[in-house]
Amino acid sequence: MNPPTPVQVVAGVAIAWGTWKVLGLFFRKDPLHNIPGPPSDSWAKGNFKALLHSRAWSLHKEIAEQHGGVLKIHGFLGERLLYVFDPKALQHIVVKEQNVYEEADQFIMIVFGEGLLSTMGEQHRKQRKMLNPVFSIAHMREMIPIFYDVVHRLGDSFQAKVQNGPATIEVLNWMTRTALELIGQSGLGYSFDPLTENGKEHRFSVSAKLLVAVVDFLSLFWTDLRRYRDIVDVIAETSEEILAEKKAALRQGDETLKAQVGRGKDIMSILLKANMSASESDKLSDSELLGQMSSLTFAAMDTTSNALSRIFTLDDRLRKEISEALDDRGQLSYDDLINLPYLDAICRETMRLYPPVPLLIRACQQDSMLPVSRPVVGVDGKEMDEVFVPQGTKIFISTLASNRNAELWGPDAYEWKPDRWLLPLPDAVVNAKIPGVYSHLMTFLGGSRACIGFKFSQLEMKVVLVELISRFKFELGEHKNIYWQMGGIATPIIDENSTLDPQLPLKVTSLKDIKI
Ligand code: HEM
Ligand SMILES: *[C@@H]1O[C@H](CO)[C@@H](O)[C@H](O)[C@H]1NC(C)=O
Ligand SMILES: *[C@@H]1O[C@H](CO)[C@@H](O)[C@H](O)[C@H]1NC(C)=O
Repeated sequence: MNPPTPVQVVAGVAIAWGTWKVLGLFFRKDPLHNIPGPPSDSWAKGNFKALLHSRAWSLHKEIAEQHGGVLKIHGFLGERLLYVFDPKALQHIVVKEQNVYEEADQFIMIVFGEGLLSTMGEQHRKQRKMLNPVFSIAHMREMIPIFYDVVHRLGDSFQAKVQNGPATIEVLNWMTRTALELIGQSGLGYSFDPLTENGKEHRFSVSAKLLVAVVDFLSLFWTDLRRYRDIVDVIAETSEEILAEKKAALRQGDETLKAQVGRGKDIMSILLKANMSASESDKLSDSELLGQMSSLTFAAMDTTSNALSRIFTLDDRLRKEISEALDDRGQLSYDDLINLPYLDAICRETMRLYPPVPLLIRACQQDSMLPVSRPVVGVDGKEMDEVFVPQGTKIFISTLASNRNAELWGPDAYEWKPDRWLLPLPDAVVNAKIPGVYSHLMTFLGGSRACIGFKFSQLEMKVVLVELISRFKFELGEHKNIYWQMGGIATPIIDENSTLDPQLPLKVTSLKDIKI
């Protein structure tokens, strides 16, 4: 046989290479093929439609129980994602390799500018360093008078509504207004809302609420940026006005600053002052400061107000504890508030079972191995102690499934039982090393991107509860089947299939009218 000509060699290699490629397309394995998970509902929408549905609570329970702490779900157009609640894997994602598992979307940057919610890496670290002191316990104590001032106004408005007998009050809207006013005064040093019945809503509040309504998981995929533009513009303009005002007050000296809303103790005033003495590399630009304003407003508003709203229809035991403490001590100090055991247990349990932000999303920046605390049973039946995560894979951090993990919390994990916090927690919870900043819960996340406002939020909930629970009784009124729908933030609607806006109408009675 003659040796092949160079042309034949080239042709042969080309054919072999082409065949290899074509075969590869057919036989290439999906790198996540062995990870267990629910079958896809459709190629176009995968499991997303079902999992991100407003009534998806039980589906999340099912997939978590059936497939374990690291499972695969199908996204849009054949995309595969991981859904994670295994404690060791979470530890890895949130703390150990947090730079590998970064925030997933650029969209957030457009909405929030250069604020804490959207910046990454070194810029994020610098901002966090500057902001941390204003969220310290020392500073929370200083904010107590502002908090009381705001919630007393809220209590008085409620009193005015129920002075002639019980009345229906839409509690969610009032909680949102209160949350916004609290972050307004103590964060931005600005009052948006007198919290009176007929008080005119500031256009900033209107926009901030709209923003929360439209920023949701699904908007990560179907973003119509023009819709956000107007909203974002109002927020940006208002923030610029406030910033200019603060800078002017700062130039006039401490006295002028103290005379302002926030008494010079608000986050913006403190940041502006800190910026003056910060080293060159730590300084914040105007656009970074403006970014903090929208980030803080957004992050502080609906999260806390929705969580708070959950607690109103609860039993009298809380009222008893609060009344006794008030009889004993008059106004409660920061330490009193933090230490009331049942109030604390109720807040923790509500945050556990009903995390206001049930899912978070991250994207894996490089091929990685993700270790797990319990072996993942592959589709092939073999156990794996770690899972290969290809670069680009999106990951759902399931706060929900972690907080409700029955293997850790026990068989009553799906029940609301504040008393569990008055006893020692199960060893399984303590030993699991769940990376949450707050009480073994993922509710406020953990690591360097954990919620900076979690103490602020706790204080807010407690101050509002003390004010309202000690003056009023709350009951379900006309609407007995309030349903909490799942979403970017879980919100109440008047019944399971209601298409009306989130709301929580409750029957409110002044305690003065109740004969004991
Ligand atoms: C119950 C109430 C709250 C819950 C459940 C909550 C939850 C969270 C979660 C899960 C994150 C992480 C988001 C992510 O990385 O994708 C976060 C971040 C953040 N939260 Fe909260 N939050 C609450 C209240 C607040 C309040 C009251 C404030 C401000 C006063 C606040 C300010 C922030 C900020 C600025 C971030 C970004 C932190 C960073 O990336 O460094 N949050 N929050
Ligand atoms: C912080 O200080 C720098 C330098 O003094 C200044 O250019 C910048 O505008 C300041 N930032 C803010 C938000 O005032
Ligand atoms: C809401 O709609 C779902 C699906 O159509 C149905 O199964 C459920 O019973 C409805 N719930 C109520 C309270 O009407």
